[in-house]
Amino acid sequence: MSFAQQRILIIGGSNGMGLAAARSLARDGAEVLIAGRSQAKLDLALATIEGRAAGYVADFTDPASLTALFERIGRIDHLVLAGSSNAAWGPFASVPASALRAAIEGKLVGYWQSLQAALPHLRRDGSVVMLSGAASRTAMPGTAGLAAVNGALTQMAQTLAKELAPLRVNVVSPGLVDTPAYDGMPAEAKAGMFAGAAKSLPAGRTGTPEDIAAAIVYLLGNGFTTGAILDVDGGARMSV
Ligand SMILES: NC(=O)c1ccc[n+]([C@@H]2O[C@H](COP(=O)([O-])OP(=O)(O)OC[C@H]3O[C@@H](n4cnc5c(N)ncnc54)[C@H](OP(=O)(O)O)[C@@H]3O)[C@@H](O)[C@H]2O)c1
Repeated sequence: MSFAQQRILIIGGSNGMGLAAARSLARDGAEVLIAGRSQAKLDLALATIEGRAAGYVADFTDPASLTALFERIGRIDHLVLAGSSNAAWGPFASVPASALRAAIEGKLVGYWQSLQAALPHLRRDGSVVMLSGAASRTAMPGTAGLAAVNGALTQMAQTLAKELAPLRVNVVSPGLVDTPAYDGMPAEAKAGMFAGAAKSLPAGRTGTPEDIAAAIVYLLGNGFTTGAILDVDGGARMSV
């Protein structure tokens, strides 16, 4: 698929799935704009993208930062929302409400205000792809916080697919994917978690950022798809 002449902004494009999507889209001819809070991460990411790409420091939890971002970049054809600042992980009884509030701010509210800030700059019949998470698509003990944030996001996206038409709004729901999001975990615990998940998944493995990037690219490019939730989770919905 060719994305020549397309300007695509990926907020959360300096790492993980967003960066994998940026690489793929730039290879397909798009002009890719990536945003994140850290200039250092943006610089490292840009060095790995072959094609037309630029990086912008922005924090989607801060409306002023988003306004400044869109003033700098101008018109875009598509928007990908791939970041997440906080996650409310853990057994329900151990996750304080403050952690849930932080997770809501660090993803749901961030995506909400990113899209609001983007609207005047986004092509009317362009598209938006948001990343949710498999925890909101099945009942996995220990993930109620993730389910709450990503479930709300998924429902919001489907409503927006009608309200904002002809803009297309779609969701990719990733399962467990090895990205820098897990860099803070002790290596042994991380290896155990990924091995355990791989064994339980119908796909027999956990995901790669490229698995998710392929789904993002598909949803950006297919003009007849809107309001979709694309599960790219190795079959996680059927394995718990
Ligand atoms: N990895 C998984 O197993 C998994 C599973 C299910 C769902 N997900 C979801 O998939 C999405 C991508 O996850 P990932 O694992 O690829 O994440 P990641 O590797 O941690 O990358 C997150 C990206 O978002 C940016 N970011 C974070 N907070 C931001 C903010 N407030 N403003 C602007 N940019 C921000 C980060 O850059 P800076 O830190 O420099 O800002 C980075 O570019 C997330 O929404 C996550 O919840 C992930």
